[in-house]
Amino acid sequence: MTIREATLQAAAQLRETAGDTPLLDATLLLAEVLEVSREQLIAAYPEEISPEAWNAFRRLVDERSRGVPVAYLLGRKEFYGLEFAVSREVLVPRPDSELIVEVALELIARIGPAARLHDCCTGSGCIAVAVAWAVPQAQVSASDLSTAALRIAQHNAERHTPGRIRFQRSDYLQDIGGSFDVITANPPYLTPAEIEVLASGEPREALYGGADGLAAYRRLIPEAVDKLSVNGYLVLEGGREQHAEIAALLREAGFAEVSCHRDLGGAPRVTVGRLG
Ligand SMILES: C[S@@+](CC[C@H](N)C(=O)[O-])C[C@H]1O[C@@H](n2cnc3c(N)ncnc32)[C@H](O)[C@@H]1O
Repeated sequence: MTIREATLQAAAQLRETAGDTPLLDATLLLAEVLEVSREQLIAAYPEEISPEAWNAFRRLVDERSRGVPVAYLLGRKEFYGLEFAVSREVLVPRPDSELIVEVALELIARIGPAARLHDCCTGSGCIAVAVAWAVPQAQVSASDLSTAALRIAQHNAERHTPGRIRFQRSDYLQDIGGSFDVITANPPYLTPAEIEVLASGEPREALYGGADGLAAYRRLIPEAVDKLSVNGYLVLEGGREQHAEIAALLREAGFAEVSCHRDLGGAPRVTVGRLG
């Protein structure tokens, strides 16, 4: 069997079972097995695949067919142009979450480059690391409840922004001291039904937002009031249906200038409030 035939056969299987990008997934997995780039894989299409490589590839494709994200199978995911290590203990960073980074960078441009930013619910650390990487003078810290996630986040921070980010374990913002100009968070916000549909094998603690998906915001928003400086900003990712409720919770807690930012698909994704 040639490399081309192996790729197409796997893509046909994945088209039936998993995800929207079967050919891309098959290509990435076979390139990983053969330890070549995607371009090198395509150039090698006419070559025969060895039985060992075929068996290793089949195992990965079967796992992908069962819904395991490609990022877990590769152990990495690109976010904001940087490569992040991921394991099954952290959420796979989503392209939609790059919007939080964009919004935080716009706010830092207004506040000044030495702005103090805390990323709550940091997971793989993708948001904190991307901000610290983009603004070398920013003072960045990050927290998560999961010590396993914090280990991965620290590893990613050491790779891209060595010595720049302070990490701490905390139940939301409960144990975080100090005062910040910006707090970012992409907290768990899925309902039980949404988690069942997703079936990605990602940690439930990273996804489950209570019966209506809003439990994290009810905790985080009032806690942020005590941790933000006057005129500080809270920047929250949420589900596409959740903007109105998150905005109402922000106003109730005393935030002003509440605004909504849309993702590339046009869905409301990030809600921002300024502490008046
Ligand atoms: C949706 S994931 C976001 C991860 C990362 N920020 C991203 O955007 O890819 C939510 C994160 O919140 C963390 N988390 C869940 N409950 C928490 C709590 N009570 N306090 C702090 N972090 C919590 C999870 O461990 C997980 O890493």
